[in-house]
Amino acid sequence: MFRIVKFIKGVLFVFPISLIVYPFSTLFIFLYHFNKLIVWIYTNKKGLILNDFFSIKRDYQKRYKLYTALVTHFNLSNEPITYLEFGVAHGASFQWWLKENAHNDSAYFGFDTFEGLPENWGGFYAKGDMKADVPQIEDKRGKFIKGLFQNTLNSFIEEKRTLLLSDQRRIIHMDADLYSATLFTLSQLYPFFKKGDIIMFDEFNVPMHEFKAFKEFTDSFYIKLKPIAAVNNFYQTAFVVE
Ligand SMILES: C[S@@+](CC[C@H](N)C(=O)[O-])C[C@H]1O[C@@H](n2cnc3c(N)ncnc32)[C@H](O)[C@@H]1O
Repeated sequence: MFRIVKFIKGVLFVFPISLIVYPFSTLFIFLYHFNKLIVWIYTNKKGLILNDFFSIKRDYQKRYKLYTALVTHFNLSNEPITYLEFGVAHGASFQWWLKENAHNDSAYFGFDTFEGLPENWGGFYAKGDMKADVPQIEDKRGKFIKGLFQNTLNSFIEEKRTLLLSDQRRIIHMDADLYSATLFTLSQLYPFFKKGDIIMFDEFNVPMHEFKAFKEFTDSFYIKLKPIAAVNNFYQTAFVVE
């Protein structure tokens, strides 16, 4: 069998007929990841504390319903939390979470270039879209870290190592949309994940971005993230570290 595969590979090297199908490869790759997503949804759609699959209409406001379900289920209003949001823009979700928790020891960090997406996102958003001013907030527990995650996250980790290693529950909110940003961030934060930490995705069901990053991360790091709540057909999905 191995010799046959080796032979076919050799033939394709010499007669590169793959070049004919190459223009269609993006479509094939998309379909591959889309099918993985469908399989994932049908394997994981039961037993969540909130799930609207299948709903015809997407309603972005439903993400607040998901946040509220998490706060109620995990009793998050009064316990100290470490909230890390990747992709802040104007700060809508960041401020929601900031208002929701009253504990003085809670710490909130929001990461963003504030200069927009660092690369095109699918066919819909271009590099530089979503540019926003750093949000002005009164609550001293919240801080923003401006710059590419790829440039800022590692020094942040060094500076906040003690907090990140503490028993304070981490809530990680992935809202950068991009495959690259999502995979990079999860990989760097992996050593700090503890049982009970919550990881939310804002665009989970986008096959070639957050979903692909999630799959590759969980498959490569052998980490088990249990889906706990989802809205908008898994567009927004939350997990708990097991
Ligand atoms: C959808 S917006 C965030 C929305 C926000 N969480 C809200 O509640 O409205 C995505 C943000 O991710 C940021 N982003 C994407 N990739 C990034 C990266 N590698 N480094 C820093 N920021 C990034 C973009 O600048 C953009 O502002």
